[in-house]
Amino acid sequence: MIELYLDTANVAETERFHRCFPLKGVTTNPTIVAKSGKGLTETLAKMSAVLGDSARFHAQVVSKDVDGMLEEARMLSELPYDMVVKVPATEQGLAAIKLMKKEGISVLATAIYTSQQGIMAALCGADYLAPYVNRIDAMNSDGVGVVREIQTFINIHGLSSKILAASFKNVQQAVEVMTLGIEAITLPLDVAEQMFSHPAILPAVEQFDKDWNQAFGDKLSFES
Ligand code: E4P
Repeated sequence: MIELYLDTANVAETERFHRCFPLKGVTTNPTIVAKSGKGLTETLAKMSAVLGDSARFHAQVVSKDVDGMLEEARMLSELPYDMVVKVPATEQGLAAIKLMKKEGISVLATAIYTSQQGIMAALCGADYLAPYVNRIDAMNSDGVGVVREIQTFINIHGLSSKILAASFKNVQQAVEVMTLGIEAITLPLDVAEQMFSHPAILPAVEQFDKDWNQAFGDKLSFES
């Protein structure tokens, strides 16, 4: 089954969506954590309490050089959770990913804007690849097309990397990439909410209520 993540550091909203979605875990980035006003240590502990032991967390290194990224990845992967270390797929990041994989660290290559970048990250052994669908679209390019090309490359070469598609502004982008056969996706909270929001849904449910009440008052289904 496709792995479904929320792209957030908001614990209360994660608890809310955990009740109605089959969440695999949570992804964050430095911007998300910074905006939350809470450190990663506190957020991961609270998220783990909400999601349980089987939750997977993707957290990003902030070091800029290869040695720093590697050391930071070691520390993150030693946290008492199922951790995937996010590394930007830059020149330094790709070098760091190769070293991390030699040590068996789980890695997500992030900030992927092009197919060639995703392909190189896959060849370097990244476990997950995060193409930024909406950010690519916003640059007048084709986010879904980038995801499709990377997934095709993975399939043709039988690589083990999983695309974890990221950066969405609407459900159409999300549904389009989910139907390409990708193995993971992370949704921001507003797009997660759009998964069950449609102007026709509530009126339909209200009409059911109205018709039922007219016929059976406040009786429940099995009492009618
Ligand atoms: C993924 O790794 C990023 O955290 C994120 O999805 C980027 O999303 P944004 O374009 O909404 O900031």
